[in-house]
Amino acid sequence: MIEVKDVTKSYGNKDNKLPVLKGITAKIADGDFVVILGASGSGKSTFLNVISGLEQPDSGSVTYDGRDITKLSDSALTSFRKDTVGFIFQQYYLLPNMTVEKNVRMGADLAGKSDYHEIIKAVGLEGKLKKYPSELSGGEQQRVSIARALAKKPNVLFLDEPTGALDEETGRQVLAYISALQKEHRFTMVMVTHNQNIARMANTVIQMNSGRIVQIDTNETPETAYEIGW
Ligand SMILES: Nc1ncnc2c1ncn2[C@@H]1O[C@H](COP(=O)(O)OP(=O)(O)OP(=O)(O)O)[C@@H](O)[C@H]1O
Ligand SMILES: [Mg+2]
Repeated sequence: MIEVKDVTKSYGNKDNKLPVLKGITAKIADGDFVVILGASGSGKSTFLNVISGLEQPDSGSVTYDGRDITKLSDSALTSFRKDTVGFIFQQYYLLPNMTVEKNVRMGADLAGKSDYHEIIKAVGLEGKLKKYPSELSGGEQQRVSIARALAKKPNVLFLDEPTGALDEETGRQVLAYISALQKEHRFTMVMVTHNQNIARMANTVIQMNSGRIVQIDTNETPETAYEIGW
């Protein structure tokens, strides 16, 4: 269980302060698929970065099974990120001079896991092991980044606009891969998106507006990547 309590965060200095998170409280259950929706600039990415330990809040707490990650030393926070969470962004951030296999293996090595071939198969890239990122389509590159994030078997996967750079067909395919992997491995998933339709795949939908959570809905009948509109 992840518990976020009274989290605030501002950017800028004290003369020119931009409050971005204005008191966020939420609970995320193990194995949940949470989608965070909200207008551009409402603080979605900042929220994601704070709950995942990429950034520190100004106040409030973020606990994983009772352990407050905002209180960890830098080195403890680094191990937490390495062992517990995985990230997928709109940009794939693959290493251009490494093959598909090496990019994914790097993710696995980070956390001392070695069985990364399974995950490459699961995202349908076993035929592309020796290719370089520049030789792949956008959807294939995003599947490499999914495999890299999941090769280390995180408990929680954070995704910020994972389909933002993909066309509809490729976007659906990438979501279908992610969703199948979540069903199999049962990690918790928190995804930021602009696409309201994707929220229909989630169990929980958090609406943000101007640095606050304005609504939380649960969805009893999530749809598949091929059932939702786009
Ligand atoms: N590192 C930063 N330094 C200064 N301001 C920032 C920084 N990151 C975000 N902001 C500002 O904080 C506000 C919220 O940004 P954030 O990226 O969280 O929004 P978002 O909801 O993810 O938007 P989008 O949908 O466009 O990605 C914006 O006004 C943004 O300009
Ligand atoms: Mg964003």
